[in-house]
Amino acid sequence: MRDINSLDSVRAMHWLDDGLELLDQRKLPGEVCYLRLSTAGEVARAITDMVVRGAPAIGITAAYGVALAAREAYAQAAVHWREAVQPALEQLAQARPTAVNLRWALSRMRALFADIDGDPTPALLAEAAAIQREDLAANRRMGELGASIIGPGARVLTHCNTGSLATGGFGTALGVIRTAYAKGRIAKVYATETRPWLQGARLTAWELAQDGIPVSLLADSAAAYLMQRAAIDWVIVGADRIAANGAVANKIGTYALALAAQAHDVRFMVVGPSSTVDMGTPSGDEIQIEQRPPSEVLTFNGIPLAAQGADAWNPVFDITPSQLVDVIVTERGLVHQPGAEGVARLLRPPGSPSKKRPRSGAAQSCDEEEADAPLDGTQSS
Ligand code: MRU
Repeated sequence: MRDINSLDSVRAMHWLDDGLELLDQRKLPGEVCYLRLSTAGEVARAITDMVVRGAPAIGITAAYGVALAAREAYAQAAVHWREAVQPALEQLAQARPTAVNLRWALSRMRALFADIDGDPTPALLAEAAAIQREDLAANRRMGELGASIIGPGARVLTHCNTGSLATGGFGTALGVIRTAYAKGRIAKVYATETRPWLQGARLTAWELAQDGIPVSLLADSAAAYLMQRAAIDWVIVGADRIAANGAVANKIGTYALALAAQAHDVRFMVVGPSSTVDMGTPSGDEIQIEQRPPSEVLTFNGIPLAAQGADAWNPVFDITPSQLVDVIVTERGLVHQPGAEGVARLLRPPGSPSKKRPRSGAAQSCDEEEADAPLDGTQSS
């Protein structure tokens, strides 16, 4: 058993004095260096250029970007700062398209605008810090919930980086792995390299090394063979967006892992805070998949990898249908065999009425309601 507080020492972003400091994830693990940003334009560029990445981390960073945008707008046009800030908000919204946490954070920040008198900066900075704190708390909670269904001696495989670097701290899928490891339930952690950005090899392996958690890396294409050899009990991944029907957008390669997991009876867990669930996106078909430049596949750190003249196709996310997912873990609870009903039930505010549904084999009662999701509750569909 390990003390859970001894795990997770890294933060992707900090507000320092009068600017936002981001750990430059493009340089890890070779160099640990920070960039200081003081305008919303710099924040938007840092998100697009992958200085910071991972759905919740992008949302938190954009929230600080709104505070910077409002500070600039207020300095230029005190009375009309709400209008003056709009182009910067638009630029932040366009920084990356797939992770819904970005849009979610921008709407939460915008919702404060109407009530602010005078300089908006302090209130907006406080809200961005609250988003970061709440994300960390959600991750700790998801860690407990996810770990509670992992049996002793588990061998787990994770994809991309879903740790402190990708969130407000602790991580989503990596938070579950950290918690289960601290409870002594994990026998082996495998991480995919995650081409082309190598988030697994560079970032997940680095984070786990800081925590003293042993990890074995594998080429993305080795994962199905590992499962065929019956060497894995759980695949545990994060999410960039969960649609209302339970479909999951996540790092390219997640769908292939889910197909292989189904073929080899390996359980498949998706871990994401409720800010990743988008009830406004009915299914995976409506999720915009980010395409990044071919150069990311054809070169690495400027070194050519491919034959000259080759082109590349570089979608950086894919969609995993809910039928391939065994369980979605959010801070509000677990949904087993997720579908539209289970996702809706999970997001319903506590105490609100639900659709009435006849119980099979029982007479339908007019005031029968489905139970609200208990915080650590287990539900299906
Ligand atoms: O392109 P990235 O590095 O931003 O992609 C990150 C992922 O796909 C993560 O798995 C996802 O954001 C969930 S992490 C908390």
